[in-house]
Amino acid sequence: ALRQSFALKAQKENKRSWNYIQPQASYKVSILGAAGGIGQPLALLVKMSPLVSALNLYDIANVKGVAADLSHCNTPSKVSDFTGASELANSLKDVNVVVIPAGVPRKPGMTRDDLFNINASIVRTLVEAVADNCPDAFIHIISNPVNSTVPIAAEVLKKKGVYDPKKLFGITTLDVVRANTFVAQKKNLRLIDVDVPVIGGHAGITILPLLSKAKPSTTFTDEEVQELTARIQNGGTEVVEAKAGAGSATLSMAYAAARFLESSLRALDGDSDVYECAYVQSDLTDLPFFASRVKLGRNGVEAFISSDLHGLTEYEEKALEALKPELKASIEKGISFVQKEA
Ligand code: NAI
Repeated sequence: ALRQSFALKAQKENKRSWNYIQPQASYKVSILGAAGGIGQPLALLVKMSPLVSALNLYDIANVKGVAADLSHCNTPSKVSDFTGASELANSLKDVNVVVIPAGVPRKPGMTRDDLFNINASIVRTLVEAVADNCPDAFIHIISNPVNSTVPIAAEVLKKKGVYDPKKLFGITTLDVVRANTFVAQKKNLRLIDVDVPVIGGHAGITILPLLSKAKPSTTFTDEEVQELTARIQNGGTEVVEAKAGAGSATLSMAYAAARFLESSLRALDGDSDVYECAYVQSDLTDLPFFASRVKLGRNGVEAFISSDLHGLTEYEEKALEALKPELKASIEKGISFVQKEA
């Protein structure tokens, strides 16, 4: 997917991309939580996209400066800032894609589920506004615990009568990005060639990289499988510990979110060859939400790549069964959070 990105295309044409970005489409993107650790670098990457004509930055604080700063970049999109609940609706008008990294991140010793109490309410409120103001938009949920915040968003949209399961995505791209990087390093492969599907969910053992389906086809010893799987599952914690209280992954997450956004915009623009992993409503397993590779099109999820789940190794089969109870509990926790208050 990235091979077609504007930067590489410009390189091929022997131009420095940031001086030569020409508008190629005119999609409107809104980032909710745009002044945060993920929001800021994500906004910068989105500002560089030739597919975006308007970039709306919403946060409860500190967003004015971020927008003023970014607005000086000589790329086509128009940057606007929106501060606080009274400006939320305006930040969503006519928007094609809403990206939500609002909420608190982990500190050492915390699981993603420890964030539930704060982030569940934030996601509920923001998605209510999405439902009221841009019900047709693609919604990218980054706020953790993704395993629960996506079901929360679905319930909110259902209550509002505007739920389209094909357009609601939990962003698991960072798990794929990490899997690709770690596999390439371990097996001495060219990074650009490596693609590892990651299925399940986005927390601990629910993150299941399918190393048997990695491209290029690669042989791993049992030890390598265990070591790589554990590293991919704990990649977030590696960063949380290194940051020692200052937050979780922000830069790699912004990179991953920008990749998923670029893929969504290409799909909206009619590209018929767009595949990404995402945590979505799914009937690939008996769980209502499940991350897998999906084909993206103008209307969101166009197809599920079910073949990834066929012919799994024994290790992967076992890991898949083992993750289901935890993922199921996280889904139910999210659903009942919204249904309880009815
Ligand atoms: P941060 O604390 O640096 O930024 C969060 C931003 O959200 C802040 O600017 C804050 O003002 C804003 N915010 C809080 N309440 C809000 C509300 N009601 N409306 C709008 N904005 C609001 O946190 P960071 O590092 O940017 O992480 C954000 C979230 O992303 C966390 O929940 C984190 O766990 C999650 N995350 C998800 C990943 C994934 O792979 N899906 C990877 C890394 C982080």
